[in-house]
Amino acid sequence: MIGDPTVLATETLPPAPRLDRAAIEGIVGSGRRLLVQGGMGIHASDGLAGKVAAHRGARLVGVGTISAVVKTDAQLRGEIRRAKREAPGGYFGLNLMAAINKGDFERNARIAIEEKVSFIVQGAGISREIVRWCKEGGVPFVGIVSSGRLAAMYEKWGADWLVAEGAEAGGHIGDIGHPLPSLVEEVVAATSLPVVAAGGVDASDVSRFLAQGAAGVQMATRFLACSDGDVHPAFKDMHLGKTAEDVVIITSCVKGMKARAVRNAFTEKLARGEVVPPKSKRWYFGPDGFQGRKSSCIECLGEGLCKCRASNFKESFCIADALLAAAVNGDTENGLFYTGQSLVRIGERDVEQLPSAAEILGDLENRLAAEADAQPADTRRGPAAAAGREAAA
Ligand SMILES: Cc1cc2nc3c(=O)[nH]c(=O)nc-3n(C[C@H](O)[C@H](O)[C@H](O)COP(=O)(O)O)c2cc1C
Repeated sequence: MIGDPTVLATETLPPAPRLDRAAIEGIVGSGRRLLVQGGMGIHASDGLAGKVAAHRGARLVGVGTISAVVKTDAQLRGEIRRAKREAPGGYFGLNLMAAINKGDFERNARIAIEEKVSFIVQGAGISREIVRWCKEGGVPFVGIVSSGRLAAMYEKWGADWLVAEGAEAGGHIGDIGHPLPSLVEEVVAATSLPVVAAGGVDASDVSRFLAQGAAGVQMATRFLACSDGDVHPAFKDMHLGKTAEDVVIITSCVKGMKARAVRNAFTEKLARGEVVPPKSKRWYFGPDGFQGRKSSCIECLGEGLCKCRASNFKESFCIADALLAAAVNGDTENGLFYTGQSLVRIGERDVEQLPSAAEILGDLENRLAAEADAQPADTRRGPAAAAGREAAA
């Protein structure tokens, strides 16, 4: 069951190891790179973090990310403990969106710090408080950036590493005009911190971003279409056999940001300018509502950040309803199916034949090894060369 609040309420497990700057420099120095699974909100990435964090290969170290968005405290603790059990000693962190309700933001941050995750990564907005909380709590802080300027600012604030997220990414897009290859170049030049490249990445372009100086790559969309994530099978199916015409950019209720989604009846409704106000969320949260909030608008976003709420429900749509309908209920009519541009490169056509997260990581390892073998020995650089040296030693 997704986010089962009864999971291991009293279990004590050791802290996850810190994934700070020094740990990443050690990994890169040993000839390996990070393969980070991007956090996906409203239960889309549930179940993935531990499976990715369990991967330790010759070329890649798997890093999982749990999303905090619209989880009760018990659900969040349950996901963290599940990842700890599935990947003892593995790296996994919490994705925390600065745009969410301030009370939820603080509560989620406190839980992640108490449970000692490997890092906290901040997306969708900027809060400086979280950097301070992380420092006080001994948890490395990670910033998601869409420009070199932001990268330099986060370095000054004390971030440990950065995710450079390009315009090809899934969900909300920071800067729609900034494709990943030029963004990575800009961010690597603007900071001395380790940089992870995210947005539209698939197996065929991992080595390209590593060659640009990235300490790793992040993938989210590819892990939506895998056999062992918790997202509804209809969400997985929505990712199969798609072409460029199936991908749309919508205007989200979150600050009017642009976001990438799979075209369906719901996105067509938005394109026609229809309004989709919140309905009762008891169907999902039960009679006590979400964190005790029983109204149909659970005020998941911070003050003034939701176009729907700010217009007294006369404009835009309810993002919690739409994303829950997609990820939890698999409602292909009324759900909003966020995705990255790389969905057009997913090869499988049948949900029953999707690879597991471990198989996706295994294929990436094999591909990097084959690419390294195909290079003339004297031109080998980076992880391929170092891994080769390790094997020879
Ligand atoms: C369904 C979905 C939900 C997402 N939710 C979040 C989120 O809650 N917070 C966040 O920072 N990024 C979110 N993202 C962005 C991903 O974490 C990732 O960085 C991005 O999609 C780039 O990878 P991709 O192109 O491989 O998907 C989401 C992406 C998708 C597809």
